Amino acid sequence: MRIMCIGDVVGSVGCRFLRDRLPSVKRFNGVDLVICNGENSADGNGMTAVSAHYLFDSGVDAITLGNHAFRRQEVYGMLDENPFIVRPANFPDRVPGKGIINLDMGRRIVTIINLMGNMGMDDGLENAFDCADRLLEQAESKIILLDFHAETTSEKRALGYYLDGRVSAVFGTHTHVQTSDAQVLPNGTGYITDLGMTGTIHSVLGVKTDIIINRFRTKLPARFELADGACRLEAALFEIDDKNGKCLNAESMRIE
Ligand SMILES: [Fe+2]
Ligand SMILES: [Fe+2]
Repeated sequence: MRIMCIGDVVGSVGCRFLRDRLPSVKRFNGVDLVICNGENSADGNGMTAVSAHYLFDSGVDAITLGNHAFRRQEVYGMLDENPFIVRPANFPDRVPGKGIINLDMGRRIVTIINLMGNMGMDDGLENAFDCADRLLEQAESKIILLDFHAETTSEKRALGYYLDGRVSAVFGTHTHVQTSDAQVLPNGTGYITDLGMTGTIHSVLGVKTDIIINRFRTKLPARFELADGACRLEAALFEIDDKNGKCLNAESMRIE
């Protein structure tokens, strides 16, 4: 099956662009399943029920999250109840939502896991490598996709090789900058260090450039405003062998 994984969709601007482009991209590439990182889908970061439904209505099958997963309290109930939303698994068990979902797609089940890195992120989180080992015991399928929401390229590549042959694909999110290393690892795991972002091209991670420049120069807090202008959708496409869950091909996508 062909699985498309989409990098952090930023704000209403990114959501609208996704809705505009996704239907034709799915058709043209014969995509069977779309996974999308929604942690920045609401304006002002985080995800709301409105932005989540917007992603689903645009053709997204499952949403992964990240460090902004719990920014909007209004979405906590949805994190618990919606079977198509997964949040980083290495948060304490008592927080809303689940870190692994087993999606029943009729003829097959697909397992989706979301993890956060430990480097340069919240230092109270469970070790991502140990957490992955623990979660793999709960996987109900050989087709396992893992969104690793992390800051450093080294931690992401290390987890990719650690899980090589045990999951179908590991794709990184969080930096909003796509890397050029889409590949199949030696034991059959598809991999990319970061999917990139879906949002405004001329921006700093989706935000107006002058706001971020000012922040670096003054260190003063500032309200982030979405940049506008031309957008790009960044993603990766993994072709997975249904029978054994191995990745046959991995490639990055950039659509303007
Ligand atoms: Fe993000
Ligand atoms: Fe993030």
